Amino acid sequence: MPQGPSSTREIPETGSIPKHIAIIMDGNGRWAKTRYMPRIAGHKQGVETVRGVIKACIERNIPYLTLFAFSSENWRRPADEVTSLMQLFLGALEQEITRLHENGICFKVIGDLSKFEPKITEFIRIGEQLTAENNRLTFTIAANYGGRWDIMQAMRKMMMQSTEELPLNFEEENLAQYLALSYAPEPDLFIRTGGEYRISNFLLWQLAYTELYFTDTLWPDFDEHELERAIQSYQQRERRFGCTSEQIQVAG
Ligand code: IPE
Ligand code: IPE
Ligand code: MG
Repeated sequence: MPQGPSSTREIPETGSIPKHIAIIMDGNGRWAKTRYMPRIAGHKQGVETVRGVIKACIERNIPYLTLFAFSSENWRRPADEVTSLMQLFLGALEQEITRLHENGICFKVIGDLSKFEPKITEFIRIGEQLTAENNRLTFTIAANYGGRWDIMQAMRKMMMQSTEELPLNFEEENLAQYLALSYAPEPDLFIRTGGEYRISNFLLWQLAYTELYFTDTLWPDFDEHELERAIQSYQQRERRFGCTSEQIQVAG
């Protein structure tokens, strides 16, 4: 297959299982509101959904799962919601790290961690270190993450290289190696729950050729069947990466 300038290297066959699923977990607040509960109750229920989705990914041999938990813009929310979210994040880290490790999961966090309280960053560090050698599933949480932040921090790191190492006509690869998710293949399937049709500054670089799937289902209601539906939708799509359908069919 001819390779254009795109950073996406190989074209997966139609019908294959996605290797990397990236999800914007949206709709917790609305889920709680319809039940006359505080928004944080929705976030708590959302953590339960995360457990189910991890389990479902393992059962399906999906090697990479990346979840958007807190965007660089979410600090704009009311202070009490931000505080509750941080407490929930800390509690989940405390509770789940050992379980993730026991299940052979490699745990990672991407985002600007400098804004978190030391207790949180310490748990992240412990969790990442403990699970670093695991390879059943690489489970990434994007926290205080923004797609633009990611490109900027990668650019800064790249510029710190000496001028001899970094040619002036640098290529995508020179930058891509510094992106926060450089250890993972680009997502095959992007899912957003909660009925909004936007990227909200999630993985801007990495989603260049990702298949997009949107559902009205609110995150706390997103279960294994919903995930299966998204995967089935993905499996019916012909990914072309700029080529024609005929080219893809000849290659397949
Ligand atoms: C997503 O749910 C979780 C976070 C952004 C932390 P929301 O809190 O955005 O839920 P809605 O969109 O208000 O329903
Ligand atoms: C996106 O959800 C961020 C996360 C799910 C963490 P939001 O609910 O914050 O997105 P917008 O602000 O409505 O676009
Ligand atoms: Mg939302």
